[in-house]
Amino acid sequence: MTTAPASVSQPQLQAAAAQFAPPYPVGRDGPYQNFIWLRTLMQVPNMVRNPLEAFAKFQFDAPVSRYKLFHKPFALISDPQLIRHIFVERADILAAEPLRQKVLRPALRDGMLTAEGDVWRRARRTIAPIFAPRHVEGFAEAMQRATTAFVDEMETGPKQVNVAPVLARLAYLVLSETLFSGDINEESETILTHVAQFLEHLSNVDPLDLMGAPEWLPRPTLLRGRGSTHKLREVVREAAEKRERRIADGEDVPEDFLTLLLRAGDTEKDRLSIEEIEDNIITFIAAGHETTARALTWTLYLLAHDQPARDRAEAEVDALDLDNTPPHLWGASMPWTTACFEESMRLFPPAAVILRTLTEDVSYNEFDIPKGTNVYVSPWILHRHTTLWERPAEFDPSRFFAEARNDIGRFAYLPFGMGPRVCIGASFAMQEAQIILALLLRRLRFDYSATRKPWPVMKITIQPDNQMPMRISRRT
Ligand code: HEM
Repeated sequence: MTTAPASVSQPQLQAAAAQFAPPYPVGRDGPYQNFIWLRTLMQVPNMVRNPLEAFAKFQFDAPVSRYKLFHKPFALISDPQLIRHIFVERADILAAEPLRQKVLRPALRDGMLTAEGDVWRRARRTIAPIFAPRHVEGFAEAMQRATTAFVDEMETGPKQVNVAPVLARLAYLVLSETLFSGDINEESETILTHVAQFLEHLSNVDPLDLMGAPEWLPRPTLLRGRGSTHKLREVVREAAEKRERRIADGEDVPEDFLTLLLRAGDTEKDRLSIEEIEDNIITFIAAGHETTARALTWTLYLLAHDQPARDRAEAEVDALDLDNTPPHLWGASMPWTTACFEESMRLFPPAAVILRTLTEDVSYNEFDIPKGTNVYVSPWILHRHTTLWERPAEFDPSRFFAEARNDIGRFAYLPFGMGPRVCIGASFAMQEAQIILALLLRRLRFDYSATRKPWPVMKITIQPDNQMPMRISRRT
């Protein structure tokens, strides 16, 4: 893949020359396959604490790496053709991986991320139209409203902040505005605490589950966070029932997610029950706010270390006519800022692992993978793969700018996954990120303010280990 086409302009070259390479776990030396029992056991604390540190160096070069972990066969797939073959062409032979289900399903139940078979197909078919461009564009004003109020607060707030939790709060408020139009905002601070605890709970893989310990052994991680999940469900259900009553009474209701979910489905048979709506709203909260917030956090960090790239992004958002252009159109006029965001998701993909179990043997080119293998794509590995990217460790937004973007292989960059279970919220997330970046960068500047560099840690999403301390100044 080339990253600097002949047509590249001078500012692009300057940005590329900065070549900021944020630190990351480069992978352990030595073989990964078929550890002896004791060595595998020694890896458990690493896998629980930070799975990114459990990858081996050779996995950044290999098309496929296979190994056994506590007798379970795994195959990490980084060959783009094989990814297409397994995850798109043969998606029907993939099942949810049991451990992932065990962690997520008690909280998300039949939400789209954890549903399978006919339940998933029905939900996906019914909900997909809600994410159609006309609806996503319709959410832009709510995104702008929530972000503007937040940036107003930030302008007069503390100048030294931990950006990671601040952006998680912003992304939640934006999502909540598009989900419920502020119906449950009076409680937003309490809800935010529950949401944070709920996500913390989801990110805990119990070491006993990792080792395949018997079910009768109590899992301490299961007990933590149950209260938050329960409270969150209660609030969502109340909001859904209240809205259902208002619709039945013929009241005027906002055209937000909640209304669209309550009206979704062409026939009575397709209509979603209140339980399905609850499960999917909880899923949108789990899948849709921390992911976007992490990508924005890393974007601000990377821009703070690449002045030409940041200058260019600031110039681009300064040139927007925010008052006279509807917010869903802003993105089209900010290609450089969008390229910075996409490059940030290359280096720090919010979802680091996409995991399934094969229900049939796969034989493709020189690869033979037996049924029962846990197959996975790791955007973390794929996006830094030495055979797919030049200077993979460096921040270079010009890879995603203008014609250079066409050189990126279709299955080399997968922050939103692929195949029939590709992220349903991808265009929602892209529009949200563009609106947030436009409003943030126009009014504020973010400089990294700690001496120690942030270290990426995987806890559901890839996040900085230090909450990303930054100094905020007003741009005049
Ligand atoms: C930058 C932000 C985001 C990233 C990087 C991201 C990434 C992903 C990825 C990789 C998957 C596939 C998971 C798998 O196959 O195992 C996924 C699925 C999903 N995402 Fe996102 N996501 C983002 C934002 C959102 C938003 C904003 C929403 C909703 C409002 C959302 C809702 C979902 C749902 C419901 C699924 C499950 C789809 C299915 O299985 O049919 N995501 N996301």
